Amino acid sequence: MQKYDITLLLIKKIFDGNLYSYKEIYKIAGIDNLYDINYHINILKNIGINVIKIFGSKIKLLQPIYLLDKKKICKYLKNVKIFFVPIIDSTNEFLKKRINFLNLGDICISEHQTKGRGRNGKRWYSPFGCNLYFSMYWYLKNFQNKSIIGLSLAIAVSIAESLKYLGVKKIKIKWPNDIYLYNKKIAGILIDIIQSNINLKKIIIGIGINFDMNNDNNILNNNFISLKEAKINIDRNFLFILLIKNLKIALLKFEIEGLKPFIKKFLEFNMYLNEPINLISHYNDKKICGIYRGINLKGDLLLQQNNIITSWNDSNISLLNL
Ligand code: BTN
Repeated sequence: MQKYDITLLLIKKIFDGNLYSYKEIYKIAGIDNLYDINYHINILKNIGINVIKIFGSKIKLLQPIYLLDKKKICKYLKNVKIFFVPIIDSTNEFLKKRINFLNLGDICISEHQTKGRGRNGKRWYSPFGCNLYFSMYWYLKNFQNKSIIGLSLAIAVSIAESLKYLGVKKIKIKWPNDIYLYNKKIAGILIDIIQSNINLKKIIIGIGINFDMNNDNNILNNNFISLKEAKINIDRNFLFILLIKNLKIALLKFEIEGLKPFIKKFLEFNMYLNEPINLISHYNDKKICGIYRGINLKGDLLLQQNNIITSWNDSNISLLNL
């Protein structure tokens, strides 16, 4: 039996938010006493699920969990290989380990990441069952005149467009690829380059979307916002399907035409355009101050200091407004 097998059985039993007595839970394989129940409730808490205990003999979830529906997803994403792994270290790592056996467009999606990774060595907080965490394997031939930064901008545009299509107003992209709503982060993109030469780039694109940061997870970091807070009520499965369809279209377009067809949209969604900003290097926390003048054809950031404009393409820098 795998580490989280019983946890998953327990979740499937109590997912609907109704009250369950310990007696009913005892029927789940492997749980046959109070000590075990408490142990598994603690695991649920550790993976971001809030359980309410009632008079010590009944439990319920603080709110129901609508698990990803494999059948529904596969019905709409035909000819795509999708690894559904409910609890995982990181969807990017999962694909990376299997890189030699993957085909273009293979995907891994999870309900909870124990070691979700963000950009610049940060952690990506991944509570169970409330957001989207997925990665896609892709490779691009003919990378001349293109850059990974440009690619990440194109991906950000595709996500921003998908969210806009769903009715999220005022969606913004902060260079290079952070997706914001009301000055709070709603989605992030992490690109791992697996193999890189001028003729072939093999990459893993990891995407995290804050769908419903529910309960008190949000307290951890109030720089985040979720679609639910933005009053967007969409089925999580359909959001995923839409994102994947649009992502694929964007990647194929980028391969043929590069960043050019995405630039106008990027600038429309762009945060801090023509405003004073600080560029922060994550290597040494150095700050460079200037006016943000958008991007060039490769997606490099343009910074104006006095009357000189310089371009920046280091993915280890972040942009902060003053
Ligand atoms: C960022 O810091 O903005 C990037 C966040 C990327 C998070 C996603 S969630 C799915 C995939 N797996 C990971 O470990 N990280 C990415």
